[in-house]
Amino acid sequence: MPDPSAVFGREASSRPSRASLRTAVVWDVLKDALDRRVEATGKDSLDVLDTGGGSGNFAVPVARLGHRVTVVDPSPNALFALERRAAEAGVADLVTGVQGDIRGLFDVVGREEYDTVLCHGVLEYVDDPAEGVRNAAAALRPAGSLSLLAAGVGGAVLARALAGHFTEARHALDDPAGRWGAGDPVPRRFTAEQLTELADGAGLQVGSVHGVRVFADLVPGVLVDTEPGAAEALLKLEAAAAELSSFHAIATQLHVLGEKRA
Ligand SMILES: C[S@@+](CC[C@H](N)C(=O)[O-])C[C@H]1O[C@@H](n2cnc3c(N)ncnc32)[C@H](O)[C@@H]1O
Repeated sequence: MPDPSAVFGREASSRPSRASLRTAVVWDVLKDALDRRVEATGKDSLDVLDTGGGSGNFAVPVARLGHRVTVVDPSPNALFALERRAAEAGVADLVTGVQGDIRGLFDVVGREEYDTVLCHGVLEYVDDPAEGVRNAAAALRPAGSLSLLAAGVGGAVLARALAGHFTEARHALDDPAGRWGAGDPVPRRFTAEQLTELADGAGLQVGSVHGVRVFADLVPGVLVDTEPGAAEALLKLEAAAAELSSFHAIATQLHVLGEKRA
């Protein structure tokens, strides 16, 4: 089994990469969830569905752990990049890209056929997030786990304010969709409560909520890149803050892990 830190571009002996600073919290929770499903099912290799998996940021590392991953995404370009990336990682046989979207998920995949479903960075873009989560949950086998990752409102408010865009920060604070204005490229953001309600409403027992990228997007890169040991220390700080509900309110992203009720 490959070293998961290396999977995300961090060699054991070197400084964590920028990408791993942003994904480490989610990866650690996801890796634990996969390990638990392996133990519970007795299968070495799980069936994993990555809805809106794009070019395989998570799908390819999950396949590198030996699991079979189906990526459903509407973008042909993303699926092309996924295919290339899976081939480069030597897991082309474990990764299947399918063009489709979460709304019509069951036009392209079966119900209750997956041990774990990922829905990362997708709910922001769909018209009906509740329907999206219900479909993701319906793809799970009983007791399967759903990994839900979406943009947090508070993180956007804080980021706009720290950049000096106070009116936009206030707009994001008041806007029901958490958008900072007409130029905001993200159509919708969530609070931790909204995400857990969506998971609960889709028949999932919420196991954990984590705040993701509480500090990583805010600190100047030069501090992280030049200070010896800074990146490692930031990684540890992110991991500690991720667990605390007080920091969920200002995280750039929120991660919810749920288990399908039997
Ligand atoms: C921000 S990217 C996230 C990619 C990947 N999940 C990750 O975490 O790196 C959003 C992805 O959602 C896909 N997407 C957009 N609308 C979607 C929909 N209705 N159903 C499924 N995927 C969708 C996009 O094509 C894109 O690949």
